[in-house]
Amino acid sequence: MRILVGVTGGIAAYKAAGVIRGFTELGHTVKVLPTQNALRFIGATTLEALSHNAVDPDLYTDVDSVKHIALAQEADLIVVAPATAAFLARYASGIADDLLLNVLLATKAKVVVAPAMHTEMWFHPATISNIETIRSRGVVVIEPAVGRLTGEDTGAGRLPEPEVIVNGALASLANQDLAGMKVTIATGGTREPIDSVRYIGNRSSGKQGIALADAAAARGAQVSLIAINIETDLSRFDRVAHVSTTQELSVALSEQVIDSDVLLMPAAVSDFKVESAIAGKLSRSESANQAIQLVANPDVLAGLADLKLARGLKTVLVGFAAEVIPSGENSGTLQQRAEAKLTRKKIDLIVANDVSDGKVFDADSNDVVIVSTKGATYSKGTKLEVANDVLDAVVHLVG
Ligand code: CTP
Repeated sequence: MRILVGVTGGIAAYKAAGVIRGFTELGHTVKVLPTQNALRFIGATTLEALSHNAVDPDLYTDVDSVKHIALAQEADLIVVAPATAAFLARYASGIADDLLLNVLLATKAKVVVAPAMHTEMWFHPATISNIETIRSRGVVVIEPAVGRLTGEDTGAGRLPEPEVIVNGALASLANQDLAGMKVTIATGGTREPIDSVRYIGNRSSGKQGIALADAAAARGAQVSLIAINIETDLSRFDRVAHVSTTQELSVALSEQVIDSDVLLMPAAVSDFKVESAIAGKLSRSESANQAIQLVANPDVLAGLADLKLARGLKTVLVGFAAEVIPSGENSGTLQQRAEAKLTRKKIDLIVANDVSDGKVFDADSNDVVIVSTKGATYSKGTKLEVANDVLDAVVHLVG
């Protein structure tokens, strides 16, 4: 795809470098169009090196090539990151006083803006009204994150991390086949306390579940996220519940599942917990000979499948299995193991990957088999690409 990245003049302009790199690493052709003020914050050389294309922000060079029209027509997608308050005001008013705004007024491509500014400016009635105006014209606005701003202050207005912008912008081109559907996603890894400071945890980063949430939201779903010990920024999602233990997850899910059309469960749930967690902190001398007694946790997903059957619910239940396949003749292939787990848990669809080498944890890509009663498909790519393949399988199953 041909992507034009507009950069406007704010301190967050340096983060545009990560956005450009994110698009080029996914194989897209990127041209960068900074405003003159953006070049006070980031050099044209950096933008040229990262995009592998020349940068010329001047409206009055190469006039004979009518470059604002050429740039407007050749782009499949235009992403402005960061978008300052002044840029948004000029764009909302249709003031085409530089090359970027000329291109934006001339293009038929999808436009995505990622605003960044101080909290007071973001919540100023003028900015609110400008955002409403451009949204009503079909522009996708990636909401600013909450966090540390340029000075000592913190609040809403921070430019989201480049991967959030890249994923959000690409997802904006998605069709709306999940419109009207309620999709719940539980992601991350549970922690079972040993004492008040230590726990039994696992290596799940929650990235695949967050990619599913991004993809489902972009396809029009109403997404509820159950975040299990996730510390990354989730402010772009409207409904987020934070939980930590398997017990808390189980309670949150039993409340959600009745009301959901689809439940996706890329959660790493501990199969056991400490029988009696110690109140306070176990000291070195106490812990020397301390045995930790483990007891089984319930299989939360299988329990929800039973609830579904008992109540005649229609919720599509999707499990995720990270398999460590033992060597030996009877261990079965990844697909066979996934099929067996699908039947055993009485769920509708299962997504399985082979984690024997441990490489998938915290990685940005994945390689899975997706198994349902309608057959098996394979998916390999970024976690966002895999997320979309999983959602395709869900749509195929219910369709
Ligand atoms: N799961 C769950 N409750 C558990 C364990 C797992 O709800 N106590 C869910 C996971 O969130 C996942 C699916 O079940 O969506 C498959 O997880 P997996 O760990 O592969 O299932 P196990 O039954 O623990 O399989 P195994 O016997 O291979 O450990």
